[in-house]
Amino acid sequence: MNWDAFFIPYIQAVAELKVKLRYLRLAPQGAGSGPVEFVTGRVKSRASIEEKIVRRHLSEDRLALDLQDIAGVRIMTRYVQDIYQVVEILRKRTDFQILEERDYVMNAKPSGYRSYHIVIEYPVETISGERKVLAEIQVRTLAMNFWATIEHDLRYKHGGELSPAVAEQLTQLSDETFSLDQKMSEIKEEL
Ligand code: GTP
Ligand code: MG
Repeated sequence: MNWDAFFIPYIQAVAELKVKLRYLRLAPQGAGSGPVEFVTGRVKSRASIEEKIVRRHLSEDRLALDLQDIAGVRIMTRYVQDIYQVVEILRKRTDFQILEERDYVMNAKPSGYRSYHIVIEYPVETISGERKVLAEIQVRTLAMNFWATIEHDLRYKHGGELSPAVAEQLTQLSDETFSLDQKMSEIKEEL
């Protein structure tokens, strides 16, 4: 497996998507600000791809099809309603094709995780012509990002597994975080 060559289109896809999607921070008329607070992106590390190959019994020559999140971009919004505004904007774009959408905002994962996931097929222009790669876009509020960042950090630092008691606490904190999000939304709507 030539990993350097494998990663090239994904590095390109993440770099391009970050540049493009950051423009959603601007308002349509240039005044004020758009629905996006900030955008991040990363290419999945070789170590975590290899870990997934083992855990999910994946075949190396099917990775581009089986792993949807080798290229990952995250869009952070301030308000919950902004997530859906961003999703609407993404659906209208012509520079990529949406393959799948998963709403973990209104249907949180059992862990308490919330985000709106979109899997896209993104065309990158390579030396040997166009190459379509899969990428995962996660759209979430600052509060959802706060929770997911802390939860991921705690889980990672404890070997990927949290005790049922801690997991339960985190799920409850996710509810509290979401309640904060909803209150912020209400204030925004009232103004
Ligand atoms: P994967 O096997 O990891 O792809 O999970 P999945 O297919 O069941 O879920 P999905 O693809 O919708 O989400 C995968 C990504 O969402 C992960 O790489 C994380 O970024 C994020 N994610 C999903 N669940 C959690 C969670 O419980 N906690 C945190 N912090 N992030 C999560
Ligand atoms: Mg997945």
